[in-house]
Amino acid sequence: MTAHKIAIMPGDGIGPEVIAAAVAVLDAAEQRFGFSTARQYFPMGADHYLATGELLQEAAAELAEFDAILFGAMGDPRVTPGILERGIILEMRKRFTQAANVRPVRLYPGVPTPIAGLQPEQCDIVFVRENTEGAYVAEGLTVHADTPLEVAVQESVNTYAAVRRVVEYAFKLAMQRRKKLTLCHKTNVLVAAGKLWSKVVAEVGQDYPEVTVDYVHVDAMCFHLPVCPERFDVVVTDNLFGDIVTDLGAVIQGGMGVSTSANLNLDGSAPSMFEAIHGSAPDIAGQQVANPAGAILALSLLLGHLGEGSAAAAIEAATAQVLAELPALAGPRMGLTTAEIGARIAALVAAPETITTVISEPLVQALARLN
Ligand code: IPM
Ligand code: MG
Repeated sequence: MTAHKIAIMPGDGIGPEVIAAAVAVLDAAEQRFGFSTARQYFPMGADHYLATGELLQEAAAELAEFDAILFGAMGDPRVTPGILERGIILEMRKRFTQAANVRPVRLYPGVPTPIAGLQPEQCDIVFVRENTEGAYVAEGLTVHADTPLEVAVQESVNTYAAVRRVVEYAFKLAMQRRKKLTLCHKTNVLVAAGKLWSKVVAEVGQDYPEVTVDYVHVDAMCFHLPVCPERFDVVVTDNLFGDIVTDLGAVIQGGMGVSTSANLNLDGSAPSMFEAIHGSAPDIAGQQVANPAGAILALSLLLGHLGEGSAAAAIEAATAQVLAELPALAGPRMGLTTAEIGARIAALVAAPETITTVISEPLVQALARLN
């Protein structure tokens, strides 16, 4: 039996707590599903940066040798905003060509949502966010800083190659699901980028005649998403729009603690990275009140990616089941601590015959077929 090589980077704030819960679930999954992992922890984050000045640097070459990266959260009030985020998270996404940021927005049965009356079958979307460029490509330029003439230039870079690879992935994913693809952009204002994205979607769409293609402006998406999520199956969008609308998606599916993501390298040249979409939440760090579901679902996506489909599906169902039992999805009224939630999910994964929640089409199955 070969061990999957997994790099674990808990990071800052609530990152270590939610990752510890995910690791407890990983232990249970290994025992029950008969695979093994060789794990190595990486200390990147605020403390490490403040002590050594290192962001990713030397670790990058080492990380490149792993099969996958499980990532917690990054960001700390002691460090100027942008340094850790750009130097570690965005650096991994770019350096390891994690071209597609796949973000499921799925409402699990029994999980409270602020959208009155919304049923799970109406909310099963996968956002595919371009993950390497757009407005994220550079820090931007400041001229005449701190004078009345200060100028800030912040551009969005969109290359045909990067748009094409993420759009192709989105079409393939749509083929594994309900065969509907929506492009989300702002073509009425960001004309140049909009033209490129629209052209690529039309072009790639020729190869997928079975997929119905739709277009929604990003502002309109913020209206349709809570009101009519059943309109969407796979949504492909640029880096910044994807960042913003998936936070709204998280609200619909029950909160930031529930949502998850896979940063996928699509050509096998480097490891993919798996993370909850929430930040480091320094205000609640160390209190065991963070919901680890997002991190645990990230583990599920990671294991699915590594071919451990049964374990991945069990983790998703077990997580959904425990979420449905919690009185509140985050904070002190959750009823259980971060570690207790992890332990409860781990116990279900260790005895999957006790899982009663049925996930109609586990996302990992659709993703696995694309591996
Ligand atoms: C996310 C986060 C990151 C992003 C930040 C922390 C750099 O908000 O993964 O959604 O903007 O992509
Ligand atoms: Mg974000």
